[in-house]
Amino acid sequence: MSLSIVNLIYLVASVLFILGLKGLTHPRTAVRGNIYSGLAMLIAVVVTLLDQRIISYEMILIGLAVGSLIGAILAIKIQMTGMPQLVAIYNGFGGGASVFVAGAALIEGLAMGEALSYQFTIAVAASGLIGAVTFTGSLVAWGKLQGVISEDSLRLPGQQALKVLIGLASVALAVWIVIDPTIIRNYWFLVIAGSLLGVFLTIPIGGADMPVVIALLNSYSGIAAAATGFVLENNVLIIAGSLVGASGIILTQIMCKAMNRTLTNVLFGVLQPSEDTPNQDEVYEGKIKSTSPDEVAMLFDGASRVIIVPGYGLAVAQAQHAVRDLATLLEGRGIIVEYAIHPVAGRMPGHMNVLLAEANVEYDKLKEMDEINPTFREADVAIVIGANDVVNPVAREEGTPISGMPILDVDMARFVVVIKRSLSPGFAGIPNPLFAADNTLMLFNDAKKAVTELIAAVKDS
Ligand code: TAP
Repeated sequence: MSLSIVNLIYLVASVLFILGLKGLTHPRTAVRGNIYSGLAMLIAVVVTLLDQRIISYEMILIGLAVGSLIGAILAIKIQMTGMPQLVAIYNGFGGGASVFVAGAALIEGLAMGEALSYQFTIAVAASGLIGAVTFTGSLVAWGKLQGVISEDSLRLPGQQALKVLIGLASVALAVWIVIDPTIIRNYWFLVIAGSLLGVFLTIPIGGADMPVVIALLNSYSGIAAAATGFVLENNVLIIAGSLVGASGIILTQIMCKAMNRTLTNVLFGVLQPSEDTPNQDEVYEGKIKSTSPDEVAMLFDGASRVIIVPGYGLAVAQAQHAVRDLATLLEGRGIIVEYAIHPVAGRMPGHMNVLLAEANVEYDKLKEMDEINPTFREADVAIVIGANDVVNPVAREEGTPISGMPILDVDMARFVVVIKRSLSPGFAGIPNPLFAADNTLMLFNDAKKAVTELIAAVKDS
């Protein structure tokens, strides 16, 4: 295959990658976007393999079949709440692949005895270092989210100093490789240093902050892939890697903004209640009104507008189908039902959108925070299902761990029904005065059980 034909096909694949990313920006076009991106990857891989002329058609087909099978099994088996772990593993493998491809290219380049250009050696060093950080960082992120690695594990004394030391050693090794790439063992020392750095950078970060870290590692895996593209002089790898690198960093920014935290705070700070944070007793004592499904069903009797506010607990309970059934039932009685989606509700970007889409909730009923907030005043009932921090009004005050985080203004609705199992705090670990508000009723139960019982009560009313 001539170089110009290969590059032309790479260009087609790159355009498909860009269209794929564009499609992923809206739930309605997300499936199409995924198909475009998958097709782009298929085209890029097959053309690259055919261009190499050392791999037979049979081997390509076997590879495709094995890869597709593993991908399909993982995609089908994974629970929605386990999605961040899956993304972490994918990022890690991407980084690991960059390490080995760049290493192999360096060995091959040295064996051929040609003078290696600076473009080549800089790209090799970048692939090795960033790829190794991504690989071990992602494995640690996976381990934390999966509960395999505990929060306090590997807290060594002087960890900060060690991190700086390893960072400096990595940079020194990378510079050495660029200046003199002939000492191959330096590359593997760089990979070891990068691997340690990945572990030490990720291990102190709280498990609940992992989704942000995963978005960042996703960006790193893209940068490592783009660097490997320069090693191999492969245009589609440079373009695809840059797209992943850029979109990962944009996503990281969006998540930080939605939590009103800086990236530095996520990476090096700890989100925990301060000394001034009031304790649960001060906030809740004598003010909590517990309710029953029958009582909530009565609230719906005179209602014309209901807003459902989903949160992490809804995902844990897998209550999305029950929630959709409740909404359909209420709509059948002439009530307008909408869903208020907070950008960081749940534990990963778009968590609630994906969850509700799985239950076939129509996209136009999912309202973004800025759109729905001014309308809470006109809602008769706001049903908060397994959400906590994203509806906590203390975010409007100074000096709390979530101060400044934009929240859903559910407390403005006429009645608020909160479904959760107890008064336990959410991710930020602070009490929520919403639960003690005059217009709030607490329905203590697992989200799925509560909504199922609510459906029965509405049918009986
Ligand atoms: P959270 O504040 O974490 O609260 C979830 C609530 O769900 C808990 O209070 C828990 O109370 C309840 N719950 C758990 N299991 C339940 C079940 N089976 N049935 C009913 N309720 C259940 O959730 P949120 O409001 O969605 O906020 C998300 C938080 O995660 C934010 O602080 C956000 O900053 C953080 N975060 C999000 C992301 C992304 S990208 N989404 C990334 C990093 C961090 P009980 O135990 O009493 O039931």
